[in-house]
Amino acid sequence: MEGYDCTVLLAAEDLSRGVDALAARLQPRLEGRLVTVVPILGGALIFAADLVRRLPAGLLLDFLRIQTYGPATSPQRAAAADWTPHPENVRGRTVVLLDDILDTGRTMAEARRVLCEELGAAEVLIVVLVDKPVRRRAAVVADECVLRLEEDLFLVGYGLDFGGRYRNLPELCALRPLAPAAVAPAAAAAAADPRP
Ligand code: IMP
Ligand code: MG
Repeated sequence: MEGYDCTVLLAAEDLSRGVDALAARLQPRLEGRLVTVVPILGGALIFAADLVRRLPAGLLLDFLRIQTYGPATSPQRAAAADWTPHPENVRGRTVVLLDDILDTGRTMAEARRVLCEELGAAEVLIVVLVDKPVRRRAAVVADECVLRLEEDLFLVGYGLDFGGRYRNLPELCALRPLAPAAVAPAAAAAAADPRP
């Protein structure tokens, strides 16, 4: 990642402990309910894979794809779903809606609208790896998170991407552009602020 400083915020073992604790907090809220876990593709994929294996057997898993970002890092279109769960997997059920990060909240607001208004979910629990309230624009509150981030940092790893890359880093990292003096001129010119 030439031109960027990459700082580890949560190492793989911290993430594992955080997801353990999250699963333990969720279990009593899900007891006795018909549960469907819906990860928002693709950022929630890795978080979801780890979380569902810590929840009791019997839940359904279905998927929602909402894209707000194109190949670059600035929002290129409004949040719109282009893949939705099967209605039978949602109607009348408790949906645990997962995403990698709750930032402006636009993605989550649209996801919740689709699940409640179009697909008839009985209730939706909003569960994210990272809750970053500082840039919130939509009226969305996370029910649960692994990390609440007060600083406006751009993150990669454990599902979060920068231009489609770095989702497969096992740790969660903050990416900051290096000051021009700290990098070669060509790299400095190429390194834009990654925050959308
Ligand atoms: P929101 O609609 O602004 O809340 O953004 C949510 C989506 O934006 C997430 O699902 C991510 O895909 C993406 N996003 C927001 N912040 C970051 C970040 O720091 N790193 C990588 N992706 C991000
Ligand atoms: Mg995403």
